[in-house]
Amino acid sequence: MAKITFVQTDVTKNEVDVPNGQSIKDGAINNLVPGILAECGGACACATCQVYIDDAWFEKVGPAKGVEKDMLDFAFEPKETSRLSCQVDITDDFDGLVVHVPEEQ
Ligand code: FES
Repeated sequence: MAKITFVQTDVTKNEVDVPNGQSIKDGAINNLVPGILAECGGACACATCQVYIDDAWFEKVGPAKGVEKDMLDFAFEPKETSRLSCQVDITDDFDGLVVHVPEEQ
Protein backbone atom coordinates (compact mmCIF):
# COMPACT_ATOMS: atom_id res chain seq x y z
CA MET A 1 0.00 0.00 0.00
CA ALA A 2 1.29 3.43 -0.85
CA LYS A 3 -0.09 6.89 -0.27
CA ILE A 4 0.10 8.86 -3.50
CA THR A 5 -0.45 12.58 -3.86
CA PHE A 6 -1.81 13.91 -7.14
CA VAL A 7 -1.12 17.61 -7.59
CA GLN A 8 -3.31 19.54 -10.03
CA THR A 9 -2.07 22.56 -12.00
CA ASP A 10 -3.90 24.84 -9.52
CA VAL A 11 -1.93 23.01 -6.75
CA THR A 12 -5.06 21.30 -5.41
CA LYS A 13 -3.95 17.97 -3.98
CA ASN A 14 -5.65 14.58 -3.80
CA GLU A 15 -4.07 12.04 -1.47
CA VAL A 16 -5.11 8.46 -2.08
CA ASP A 17 -4.11 5.04 -0.77
CA VAL A 18 -3.25 2.60 -3.53
CA PRO A 19 -2.88 -1.14 -2.81
CA ASN A 20 0.23 -2.94 -3.99
CA GLY A 21 -0.13 -4.31 -7.50
CA GLN A 22 -2.48 -1.59 -8.66
CA SER A 23 -1.20 1.16 -10.92
CA ILE A 24 -1.05 4.90 -10.30
CA LYS A 25 -3.89 5.11 -12.83
CA ASP A 26 -6.00 2.67 -10.80
CA GLY A 27 -5.47 4.85 -7.75
CA ALA A 28 -6.65 7.90 -9.64
CA ILE A 29 -9.69 6.28 -11.26
CA ASN A 30 -10.82 4.42 -8.13
CA ASN A 31 -10.67 7.64 -6.11
CA LEU A 32 -12.13 9.97 -8.75
CA VAL A 33 -8.99 12.06 -9.03
CA PRO A 34 -9.67 14.69 -11.71
CA GLY A 35 -7.55 14.91 -14.84
CA ILE A 36 -6.69 11.25 -15.40
CA LEU A 37 -8.88 10.03 -18.25
CA ALA A 38 -7.34 6.62 -18.98
CA GLU A 39 -9.55 6.12 -22.02
CA CYS A 40 -8.03 2.77 -23.02
CA GLY A 41 -8.50 1.33 -19.54
CA GLY A 42 -4.81 0.78 -18.91
CA ALA A 43 -3.69 -0.93 -22.12
CA CYS A 44 -0.90 1.58 -22.87
CA ALA A 45 -2.81 2.62 -25.96
CA CYS A 46 -4.22 6.11 -25.36
CA ALA A 47 -1.76 8.34 -23.47
CA THR A 48 -4.61 10.03 -21.57
CA CYS A 49 -3.31 8.86 -18.21
CA GLN A 50 -0.09 10.86 -18.32
CA VAL A 51 1.40 12.19 -15.10
CA TYR A 52 4.62 14.04 -14.41
CA ILE A 53 6.55 12.26 -11.69
CA ASP A 54 7.74 14.71 -9.05
CA ASP A 55 11.45 15.47 -9.44
CA ALA A 56 12.18 14.06 -5.99
CA TRP A 57 10.73 10.69 -7.04
CA PHE A 58 11.75 10.40 -10.66
CA GLU A 59 14.95 8.47 -10.06
CA LYS A 60 13.10 5.89 -7.99
CA VAL A 61 10.19 5.50 -10.42
CA GLY A 62 12.40 5.60 -13.51
CA PRO A 63 11.76 6.71 -17.08
CA ALA A 64 9.31 5.24 -19.58
CA LYS A 65 10.66 2.58 -21.92
CA GLY A 66 9.52 0.69 -25.00
CA VAL A 67 5.87 1.03 -26.03
CA GLU A 68 5.12 3.39 -23.16
CA LYS A 69 7.88 5.73 -24.31
CA ASP A 70 6.51 5.64 -27.87
CA MET A 71 2.96 6.34 -26.64
CA LEU A 72 4.15 9.38 -24.72
CA ASP A 73 4.77 11.04 -28.09
CA PHE A 74 0.97 11.30 -28.32
CA ALA A 75 0.53 12.74 -24.83
CA PHE A 76 -0.17 16.40 -24.04
CA GLU A 77 3.13 18.25 -23.57
CA PRO A 78 5.24 15.30 -22.45
CA LYS A 79 8.28 16.05 -20.31
CA GLU A 80 11.35 14.13 -19.26
CA THR A 81 9.52 13.09 -16.10
CA SER A 82 6.36 11.92 -17.90
CA ARG A 83 4.99 8.46 -17.30
CA LEU A 84 1.77 6.80 -18.35
CA SER A 85 0.23 6.19 -14.96
CA CYS A 86 -1.27 2.86 -16.05
CA GLN A 87 2.25 1.53 -16.54
CA VAL A 88 3.55 2.20 -13.03
CA ASP A 89 2.60 -0.50 -10.54
CA ILE A 90 2.58 0.37 -6.89
CA THR A 91 4.63 -1.26 -4.16
CA ASP A 92 5.32 -0.21 -0.58
CA ASP A 93 8.45 1.50 -1.91
CA PHE A 94 6.27 4.15 -3.51
CA ASP A 95 4.65 5.27 -0.25
CA GLY A 96 4.66 9.08 -0.31
CA LEU A 97 4.93 9.32 -4.11
CA VAL A 98 3.98 12.69 -5.59
CA VAL A 99 2.80 13.04 -9.19
CA HIS A 100 1.61 16.07 -11.10
CA VAL A 101 -1.47 15.99 -13.30
CA PRO A 102 -1.04 17.74 -16.69
CA GLU A 103 -3.23 20.68 -17.64
CA GLU A 104 -4.88 18.50 -20.31
CA GLN A 105 -4.78 14.90 -21.51
FE1 FES B 1 -4.46 4.41 -21.79
FE2 FES B 1 -2.71 4.51 -19.77
S1 FES B 1 -4.85 4.30 -19.67
S2 FES B 1 -2.31 4.57 -21.90
